[in-house]
Amino acid sequence: MSKHLTVVEHPLVQHKLTLMRDKGTSTASFRRLLREISLLLAYEITRDLKMTTTTIETPLREMEAPILGGKKLALVSILRAGNGLLDGVLELIPAARVGFVGLYRDPETLKPVEYYCKLPSHLEDRVTIVVDPMLATGNSSVAAIDLIKAKGATSIRFMCLLAAPEGVERMKEAHPDVPIVTAALDECLDEHAYIVPGLGDAGDRMFGTK
Ligand code: URA
Repeated sequence: MSKHLTVVEHPLVQHKLTLMRDKGTSTASFRRLLREISLLLAYEITRDLKMTTTTIETPLREMEAPILGGKKLALVSILRAGNGLLDGVLELIPAARVGFVGLYRDPETLKPVEYYCKLPSHLEDRVTIVVDPMLATGNSSVAAIDLIKAKGATSIRFMCLLAAPEGVERMKEAHPDVPIVTAALDECLDEHAYIVPGLGDAGDRMFGTK
């Protein structure tokens, strides 16, 4: 992907995102909408994957048909909210290897603290898509990508639902080689590092916690 930031302005994405932002939307609807949007974001983030051809026989004749031909894929979910995006992406790319990075945000310092990391082997041979719905300060995303690069990954993309300008800048400084695909670029962060106007705490809204 050539652009550092891609905002997917497709009408279906924008419509579903508006429903997700609305604080009256139920947990069940929020989760369903997130899965639906994740399919559309996955379509966008994979649009330039390398292709090759294979010879097949249709019922009518032989043909050279396009198939994926480049590196295989790995998906890495940043726990726990990343799992809401992961499910939809895995539906489209069921053969992908899957890793998880667990980071929580220290409420005082707002810095990420790692509590879990399980990544697929040989990430150098794969295109890795990192998923986390909210790119807020960018601290967790940068830390997760640090871990993923340390495991050998060289081709990484980042998928989120909402991004704040602060998070996009932080990612650009730390990982300029990692393109970001998002459904929207919001205005700013508030004093608690929530994205404004945002949608609140994605994990809480997805899992019905508080
Ligand atoms: N994480 C969330 O879930 N929401 C925000 O607004 C920022 C970070």
